[in-house]
Amino acid sequence: MPELVEIFEMAPRDGLQNEKREIALADKIALVDCLSRAGFRRIEVGSFVSPKWVPQMADSAAVFAGIARKPGISYAALTPNMKGYEAAIAAGADEVAIFASASEGFSRANLNCSIAESLERFTPIMEAAKADNVKVRGYVSVVTDCPFDGATPPENVAKVVASLRDMGCYEISLGDTIGQGTPESVTAMLRAVLEEAPAEQLAGHYHDTSGRALDNIEASIELGLRVFDAAVGGLGGCPYAPGAAGNVATEAVNARLVALGYETGLDGAVLEEAAALARKMKGPQK
Ligand code: HMG
Ligand code: MG
Repeated sequence: MPELVEIFEMAPRDGLQNEKREIALADKIALVDCLSRAGFRRIEVGSFVSPKWVPQMADSAAVFAGIARKPGISYAALTPNMKGYEAAIAAGADEVAIFASASEGFSRANLNCSIAESLERFTPIMEAAKADNVKVRGYVSVVTDCPFDGATPPENVAKVVASLRDMGCYEISLGDTIGQGTPESVTAMLRAVLEEAPAEQLAGHYHDTSGRALDNIEASIELGLRVFDAAVGGLGGCPYAPGAAGNVATEAVNARLVALGYETGLDGAVLEEAAALARKMKGPQK
């Protein structure tokens, strides 16, 4: 039996959040419904952040309400604070994600607070999620390079990973937010992080700005990671990370993993269908 490597699908959230023009609710729902047929176990559907900060995600509750849920899939939402957590749970999110940064510059730009303050805001989310029996995933952004503070020291990433681990995140996703990581810098970062958390608790979230994301995934597999975030059609970017291009494309990750002899559980034909839908939603390159 080939070993399983899981792709966590990001297009409806990380993929669409950076699109400037308004995308119709029906198109967002159609994308999630198509993805639900592809074989994913987890799909990030939207985020419950300030609509002033990320207007494209303002209708996330309506997306959750409109999708045809398939049993066995966890439909996830990003939540920066208690207000977001409460809205995500009311909308029916199966799991939520909190998101921190490994650099102070990006924390300020993305969350309007320091790293320490962001972790404080996450504490009540963790408490509520525990009481509600809701799983919480953690993200760490700018794990190799920050658009504001330059190269990120691996020990800074490890420190934030340790905090998220201590808070009770079931998995921690390591974001190369601006896609500047190389197999060398990703490996150095992972070696530091693996001192704090086992590979089974980690995921790679690599944007593909420099075309190295697939190589970075391979380097991460070498160190034991078996979960990677990706978005069909290579959609996406972060509005608060200047120059951040799309997430690595799910269909490309799937093809590489299959070529390497791994099982992904995904249906390539449905992935192509979803990628075509995603590409139609993509506005002009910024
Ligand atoms: P702030 O302005 O400091 O917040 O933003 P505030 O508490 O002062 O509130 C300001 C206004 O926002 C208030 O409304 C609040 O009610 C409202 P007003 O009184 O002005 O009408 N507000 C909310 N509304 C809806 N939902 C909420 C919420 N919270 C406050 N949850 C805040 C702080 C965290 C809210 C803001 O900075 C924010 O929303 N940031 C999110 C930015 C974001 O979504 N970035 C992209 C996702 S992260 C990412 O893409 C990286 C990742 O993919 C990994 C990687 O690639 O590295 C995960
Ligand atoms: Mg991202």
